[in-house]
Amino acid sequence: MGPESPFTPYLATLKTATQLTPDIKLLSVELEDPDIKAGFDYKPGQFALLSAFGEGEAPFGIVSLPLQKDGLEFAVRRIGTVTRALQELEPGDTLGVRGPFGNYFPLEDYVGKNMIVIGGGIGMAPLRPVINSILEQRDDYKELLIINGARTPQDLVFQPEFPTWMEAPGTKLELTVDRGDEEWKGRVALVPDVVKELAPSPGNAIAIVCGPPIMIRFTLARLRDLGYKDNQIVTTLEAKMKCGLGKCARCNIGEKYVCQDGPVFNLEQISQFLEQP
Ligand code: FES
Repeated sequence: MGPESPFTPYLATLKTATQLTPDIKLLSVELEDPDIKAGFDYKPGQFALLSAFGEGEAPFGIVSLPLQKDGLEFAVRRIGTVTRALQELEPGDTLGVRGPFGNYFPLEDYVGKNMIVIGGGIGMAPLRPVINSILEQRDDYKELLIINGARTPQDLVFQPEFPTWMEAPGTKLELTVDRGDEEWKGRVALVPDVVKELAPSPGNAIAIVCGPPIMIRFTLARLRDLGYKDNQIVTTLEAKMKCGLGKCARCNIGEKYVCQDGPVFNLEQISQFLEQP
């Protein structure tokens, strides 16, 4: 039995909670109703609204791979009451899930392309299923360049997956931090500067960029300097969301609703709404 209204969340159980960075936890969540679980079809880029009962609801990208139904995964960063309550849940506790919502990265359109995947901080969350989907179908794509930036080395998300990403054929992982520490031997630079330095060719390429607004703004500018056209640059937008159903008008950007028409847009669709650096 599904919920009576689209505003009623499905009940789910927290299976595991793994600390990824000092303020981000990876929650693995299992829908309780077996029929709902079996029918929960999603694609990389889609999101769900998670509720901590008594505290409220917030949107999160689904970071697991679509075939993963036993444990839907969400990267939750502690930024307010709902995220704090979700992070405080223990395995076995109940939470609510509404979704999946929104559009997705059209990976099938990118077959045969060089892929440049650029993420800053928690912006890596929606990119994780993109990267892992590409690696699952590695022969379908050409070179894969991943640029992953964070404030400090401890803030780099998905570190347990770095060895797999680094060793995959035709794949490069470039890590960068804004501020290093005594142990950090890697790059200390802002993501847009790394893009400028590495200068990935725009030829037959698609760049997917997710992160804080300022990082997105400057990274898009660097990509344009390199010759990327707006239809070669894809990003996700964050917005305040309530219904997730295109009904409450909380999440609009121009005439589009981020919850329905997005969160994935190419730059051609949204450049008029982005501030230029
Ligand atoms: S969240 Fe209500 S219209 Fe998008």
